[in-house]
Amino acid sequence: MITGVSRGLGRALAERALEDPHTWVLGIGRSGFEHERLRLRACDLSRPEGLPGADELRPLLEGAEEVVLIHNAAVVEPIGPIGELDSAAVIDAVNVNFTSPMLLTNELVKALGRYPEKTLYISSGAANRVIDGWSAYSATKRGCEEFFAHLAQRALVEIVNPGVMDTGMQVAVRAATFEGQERFHALHERGELPDPATIAAKII
Ligand SMILES: NC(=O)c1ccc[n+]([C@@H]2O[C@H](COP(=O)([O-])OP(=O)(O)OC[C@H]3O[C@@H](n4cnc5c(N)ncnc54)[C@H](OP(=O)(O)O)[C@@H]3O)[C@@H](O)[C@H]2O)c1
Repeated sequence: MITGVSRGLGRALAERALEDPHTWVLGIGRSGFEHERLRLRACDLSRPEGLPGADELRPLLEGAEEVVLIHNAAVVEPIGPIGELDSAAVIDAVNVNFTSPMLLTNELVKALGRYPEKTLYISSGAANRVIDGWSAYSATKRGCEEFFAHLAQRALVEIVNPGVMDTGMQVAVRAATFEGQERFHALHERGELPDPATIAAKII
C-alpha cells in the first residue's frame, strides 16, 4: 500500500515494487497509472474524511501474505514566513502530511488485525532542520516521525530520508521565495538532483 503513486518517488517506488511478479500495489491518492497489478483507491489526502476505513481496506488486502505500508505522499507548500501563510494551505498540508498517514495506519492495522509486516515512512531532512519558510512542512514531517517512532515500539518501521530528488516537489521549492533558496536552484542547474527511480531502487 503506497500513498501518492501518480508521480515522483511514489510512482518510482510502485514501479520498482511491481517488478516482483508476486507484488500487488494498492495506491492511495488522486490518480495512478496503468498496470495489471496496481489498484488505485482514489482519494484526496487533504480531505481525510474520504480516506478508506478498515472495513473497506480489509477485502482489498485479503490474501496478502505480507503487507508493506509506504507513506510517501506529501506537499511542501505553503512556503513562506509565519504570519503570511494561507490558512487553507496549512490545513491541507497538515491533512496530507500528518493526519492522513496517522489515520491510514490506524485503519490498516484495524483491517489486518495485526501490524503490517513493514512500514516505511518517507520523511525529509527538514523534519529535524529549520529551513526558512518551511514551517508547515517541517512540523508535519517531524510530527509523523514521532508517530512512527511510537509504531516502531511494536512493529517493523523504517523512517527514510530520501534526500533531494528531481520531482515536482523540487519544482515547487524553486517556485517559492525563501532564504537559502539558491542551493536548490544550483542543484538543479548543475544537474545534481537524482532521478527518483534511482532512490526508489535503493529504498525497495
Ligand atoms: N523531492 C525531494 O527533493 C524530497 C526530499 C526529501 C523528502 N522528500 C519526500 O519524498 C516524498 C515524495 O515526494 P516527491 O518529491 O515524489 O513529491 P511529488 O513529486 O510532488 O509527488 C507527491 C505525491 O504526493 C501526492 N499528493 C500530494 N497531495 C496529495 C493529495 N492532496 N491527495 C493525494 N495525493 C497527494 C501527489 O499526487 P498528485 O499527483 O495527485 O498531486 C504525488 O503522487 C514526500 O514524502 C517528500 O516529503 C522529497
